[in-house]
Amino acid sequence: MRILVIGSGAREHAIVKSLKREGGHTLYASPGNAGIAEDAEIVQLDVQNGREITRFAQEQDIALVIVGPEAPLIAGAVNDPRERGIAVFGPSRDAAQLEGSKTFAKEIMSEAGVPTGGAVRASSIQEVIEAMGEFGAPYVIKADGLAAGKGVLVTEDSQEAQAHAMHWLERGAVLVEEFLEGREVSLFFISDGDDLISLSPAQDYKRLQDADAGPNTGGMGAYSPVPWIAEAFGSEAEFIAQVKAQVAQPVINVMNERGTPFVGLLYCGLIVNGTTIKVIEFNARFGDPETQVILPRLKTPLSELLFAAATGTLGTKPPAEFSDSSAVTVVLASGGYPTENSEPVPLGGLGNLQGVDVIHAATAKQDGTLYSAGGRVLNLVATADSLEVAREVIYSQIDEVDFPGVQYRSDIAELS
Ligand code: AMP
Ligand code: GLY
Repeated sequence: MRILVIGSGAREHAIVKSLKREGGHTLYASPGNAGIAEDAEIVQLDVQNGREITRFAQEQDIALVIVGPEAPLIAGAVNDPRERGIAVFGPSRDAAQLEGSKTFAKEIMSEAGVPTGGAVRASSIQEVIEAMGEFGAPYVIKADGLAAGKGVLVTEDSQEAQAHAMHWLERGAVLVEEFLEGREVSLFFISDGDDLISLSPAQDYKRLQDADAGPNTGGMGAYSPVPWIAEAFGSEAEFIAQVKAQVAQPVINVMNERGTPFVGLLYCGLIVNGTTIKVIEFNARFGDPETQVILPRLKTPLSELLFAAATGTLGTKPPAEFSDSSAVTVVLASGGYPTENSEPVPLGGLGNLQGVDVIHAATAKQDGTLYSAGGRVLNLVATADSLEVAREVIYSQIDEVDFPGVQYRSDIAELS
């Protein structure tokens, strides 16, 4: 199949690698990164512009377009190609509002009867303070729109909560939310607008430092499967069935009834307490770094699932199959991440790693030298018979990577 993948991060590199493992495809990526360039042909497109995606897809006879990141989805990049009959995986502008506006997501959840925490939308600091009084500490303050992972603050400190709210109020509304107690897990569903196919759950690590210290980030590591989920629910399948019935299917149905069917990946960010499931957030695309540990375990060809979703034929497909293996990824981030812009530094030693897949998140090549080109730079991924072995494979070799100023967590997939 001739496939175009839009995006430039580790998620897109993982998607491209997964497609490449299937064999027989011609892969294009835009804008890509230095790692993706090893596995696909890079093309320069204005990826926010649906017309340009359509033009390229028509000229190059592309059978499937996969849009990875939220920004082009929320900008409506899939609308034009879809209207012109191109098979494209990713929600339309309106459907991507599930991620683009936290208020919209709460509205849909309320309409669909999906379990989630209480939330108040506030447009002034008085409203924020009132809502904080209502919910009590810890305080959860969120920017309503996209904020590149920086919009959410969870804190016991009321002054800090108010300062965060003031900062984001200058740019729009904020949400004050009830704090949800429990363990976090990510579960993804591929949707063709009507039918759903679930993937295997993954655990993400959002905080920068070990033991969940430090600021929220885009994600510093992940593992899949999630043993404590199978324990809590008796089996992974039982958990997935409950999330599908309580969360994913009702949301897909409401989006359909509203005339804005959701075609793409519904990312359910969940808090689990005992066997109670509540939604913290939806995203409208594959999670990063969760995708990097889910796809290596996926036995069903990814291209078949995404093509079926893009062409409305998911209902004819059997469930996705996963191997019994375990996968772990550790994110290597630049020195100043996530608060400061990171200067490029040269990267080395990657060739010394054995049994580790190196996924590029933000890299560029100049005169044959690989450089960092952003905050989250590389993901090391290992797949093994157990999480313990997979994490050992990574951590026993991580010092081989030459990356001045690198930050990484040393407790990814440490379950005891
Ligand atoms: P979000 O961008 O909405 O996923 O929020 C980022 C992170 O903040 C989440 O992954 C949680 O760890 C935390 N968080 C967000 N909302 C809540 C909540 N209502 N209760 C507890 N923790 C939350
Ligand atoms: N790993 C969190 C996200 O993709 O939003």
